[in-house]
Amino acid sequence: MKYQTIKGTTDRLPDAAGRWRNVVETARQVLERAGAGEIHTPVFEDTGVFSKGVGESSDIVRKEMYRFSDRGERDLTLRPEATAPIVRAFIEHGMNSLPFPVKLWTFEPMFRAEKPQKGRERQFHQIGLEIFGAEEPLADAEAIDLAASILRVLGLRRFTVHVGSVGDPQDRERYNAYLRNELAPRLDQLSEDSRARLDLNPMRILDSKDRGDQNILRELKVKPMLEFLGPDALEHFEAVQGYLRALGCEFQVDETIVRGLDYYRRTAFELKHPDIGAQAALGGGGRYDGLTELLGGQPTPGVGFGLGVERIILALEAEGVVSPERLKPLIAVLPLDESSVGSAAALGRAARQIASAFVAYRSRPLGKALNDAQKLGARFAVLIGEAERAADSVSVKNLETREQFSVPAGEFTTWLSNEVEKEQA
Ligand code: HAM
Repeated sequence: MKYQTIKGTTDRLPDAAGRWRNVVETARQVLERAGAGEIHTPVFEDTGVFSKGVGESSDIVRKEMYRFSDRGERDLTLRPEATAPIVRAFIEHGMNSLPFPVKLWTFEPMFRAEKPQKGRERQFHQIGLEIFGAEEPLADAEAIDLAASILRVLGLRRFTVHVGSVGDPQDRERYNAYLRNELAPRLDQLSEDSRARLDLNPMRILDSKDRGDQNILRELKVKPMLEFLGPDALEHFEAVQGYLRALGCEFQVDETIVRGLDYYRRTAFELKHPDIGAQAALGGGGRYDGLTELLGGQPTPGVGFGLGVERIILALEAEGVVSPERLKPLIAVLPLDESSVGSAAALGRAARQIASAFVAYRSRPLGKALNDAQKLGARFAVLIGEAERAADSVSVKNLETREQFSVPAGEFTTWLSNEVEKEQA
C-alpha cells in the first residue's frame, strides 16, 4: 500500500516555506501594530460551538463539518472556522474584564468537507482578526482596512474590497419573509438545496450557484437586502463607508454579499481577486453582535475577518510578486578527511550562532563536495583537513569567485560576522 495525502489536503514543502512565512509575518506585523494579541484555540471543539455559533442553516454545519465522537463519546468537530472558538475562548477566560476593544489575531488550519478545486481545500489556513467590545462603525472600517492593508503590504494590487450589510435581525426577518413570498410560486422549480434554505435562511438562496435558481432570481427581479435595512443598520452602514473613505481604503458597495455563516449582523464584506479562479474570495468577514450571548457570554459586540492563506499565495503568484527565497546557508563546512569530521562539526556548530551553516557528515571527494555546496546556494566553502588543524586555521573558498584564502581559527567568527554584515548591507 502506497499512502498519499487525503483528497483536499496538501503537503507544504520547504520551497514554499519562505512564501508562507512572509504572509504570516506580514499579517502579524500589521495586526500587532494595530494592537492585536495572538491567540490559538484547539484544533477540535465541542460540536455545539459550531452548530450554535456558525448556525444550523449554514453549509458548514449542514454538510461540511469533520464531526466525530472520541473514546469518551464526546461529540467533537475539527475547527471549520475561527470566530466561534475565539468567542468561546473570550468567554471562558473572562476577557470581557479587559479594557475594550479587545483585539485578537490568529493563524490556524481549518477543516471543511467541501468539494476540492483550485483555491478550495479540505484543510486550509486562515489568518484572522476579531475585535470585541466595539459597536462603533469605526471598528468595522478598521477591520476591513486591516484586511486590505495585509494584502497591500504583501504587494497585491489587483484585489477589490466589497462591502455590504445584512442588517439587524428584524431587518433580515422582513427580508426573509419578502423572499419566501416572492419565491413561493416557484418553489418546485428551485434546487433541492435552495428549497431547504427557504425554511432555514432564504437569503442564502441568493448565493446559489445553481443555474435554474439564478434564472428564477433574475426573472423575479428580487430586491437586495440593502433595501430592507432599518434606520439603525442603515446609519451604521453609511458611517462604515464614511470611515473607510477617511482611512483612504478603496471599496465598493456590493449588494450581492450574502455571507455563508449565520452569525453576521450589519456589516458583511469580502476581498476578491480576479485571477485566482472560481474561488475568488481572498477573505471575508463582518460584524457578529449577539454571538457571545449565543455561546453563553455577556452581550459583547464583535467584528472581524478571515483571510485564506492558500488563496493569497495563488494571488501573489498570479500577480508575479516575487517571494522571498528559501533560507540558504552562508557557508558549507566540509571536512577534507575522516579524522577532521568532528572538528568541522564543532566549527559549524559555533558558526550557527552567527549564520546559517551546512555541515557535511563525512569527507567526500572535494570536487563533488564543492559542487553540492554550490547547489545548496552557499557563498563560501569552509575546508578543514589535517593541514588546517595543524596550522590552527581553516581554508575558505569563495564559491562565486573561486578565490581561496586561509583564516586563523581564532579569527573565524570575526570573519564570519563581517560576511553576515556584508550580506545584509
Ligand atoms: P469565510 O468566508 O468562511 O469566513 O472564510 C474566510 C476565507 O477563508 C475565505 O474568504 C477564503 O479565502 C478562505 N477559505 C474558506 N474556505 C476555504 C477552503 N475550503 N479552501 C481554501 N480557503 C478557504 C470565516 O471563516 C469567518 N470566520 C471570517 C470572520 C472572522 N468573520 C468574522 N470574523
